[in-house]
Amino acid sequence: METKIYPGDCLGILKKIPCDSIDCVMTSPPYWALRDYGIKNQIGLEDNFEDYIKKLCDIFDEVKRVLKKSGTCWVNLGDTYYTKSGGAFLNDNLNSNKRINEIGINRANAIRGKGLLKDKNLTLIPFRFAIEMQNRGWIFRNVIIWHKPNCMPTSVKDRFTVDFEYLFFFVKNKKYYFEKQYEPIKKSSVIRSKYVRYKKGSKCEEGNYAIPPENPDEQIGLRFVNPKGRNKRCVWTITTKGFHGSHFAVYPEELCLTPIKAGCPIDGIVLDPFCGSGTTGIVCKKLDRNFIGVDINPKYCKIAESRISEFKKNNCILCGIPLKEDEDFCKTCLRVMKSKYPNKKKFKQILQWHKNHTQLNQEC
Ligand SMILES: C[S@@+](CC[C@H](N)C(=O)[O-])C[C@H]1O[C@@H](n2cnc3c(N)ncnc32)[C@H](O)[C@@H]1O
Repeated sequence: METKIYPGDCLGILKKIPCDSIDCVMTSPPYWALRDYGIKNQIGLEDNFEDYIKKLCDIFDEVKRVLKKSGTCWVNLGDTYYTKSGGAFLNDNLNSNKRINEIGINRANAIRGKGLLKDKNLTLIPFRFAIEMQNRGWIFRNVIIWHKPNCMPTSVKDRFTVDFEYLFFFVKNKKYYFEKQYEPIKKSSVIRSKYVRYKKGSKCEEGNYAIPPENPDEQIGLRFVNPKGRNKRCVWTITTKGFHGSHFAVYPEELCLTPIKAGCPIDGIVLDPFCGSGTTGIVCKKLDRNFIGVDINPKYCKIAESRISEFKKNNCILCGIPLKEDEDFCKTCLRVMKSKYPNKKKFKQILQWHKNHTQLNQEC
């Protein structure tokens, strides 16, 4: 498997990549007015969010050109309030001094609250972006909610704490590569399925078949439960993993796992035009996909290169952190799973299910 990391403005670098050559794009661009990455030509600190959307979509025009007809494109994008105090969507563990010094929050704050919207409005950046992407020819397939069970608490008193971000799934053609992904079926659904009426021989939802009745055309029937589980749903609960080295906006490896498994064939090429510390590249290495990463900051490119090259086998199946040779899950993931599934038998079944349904460990 090959990994290539290019330092530079992704718009320029994308222009050098041939048409129809990339299988999958998995990325998280800088969010509007949230951070200062401290480098010329960075995206995200435009005075007007419409300029930001235009710049971003110009980059995604190039992404569309380099993507194969069968390609898929996954974009994680956060929102912000149009208020001078907004830190609610930040996904880091920095204290306020560090925030001001290291991520330039004052500079980012100065862009908001300038009368483009009434103060306190949610800016709706992700949806403004998605609509402009549609206008430019992309097909918008799914809104995935990345639910963060360990989100930062906020001190707001007149609204709810936001504990999710969006992951948008786009394609450029009606037909595209997609490997169906599964999740465990809830016990309650299995029980309910016994009482559902099926037409004789009909194919049920999730690809399961009703057991034909003795005679009648219809009966209250049993059905086989698909051992793989059910088609994966759109709310994904993934814990944030906090600050990694010198990069302060790292997304969790788990967020990339499903998109890459679903949207890129083995041996295919994944591109991340805003690769930061190289998380997408690490997941590609685990899943036997080639990787091209771009970041405007050469320092981040170095971090990405060393993180990817240092990555060794035997990482936690769920979050990807390195483990001792004989372990499959890290302690944190085990704790989260235990609290989610207090029943011992169910807990063991779920762990086994994850072992059976991941290519990590066995194939890397
Ligand atoms: C949200 S971070 C991506 C983090 C990454 N997903 C990770 O896990 O490390 C966005 C990245 O975009 C980079 N960036 C900003 N403007 C850029 C541009 N015009 N071209 C390429 N990269 C850019 C920043 O340096 C930053 O590393």
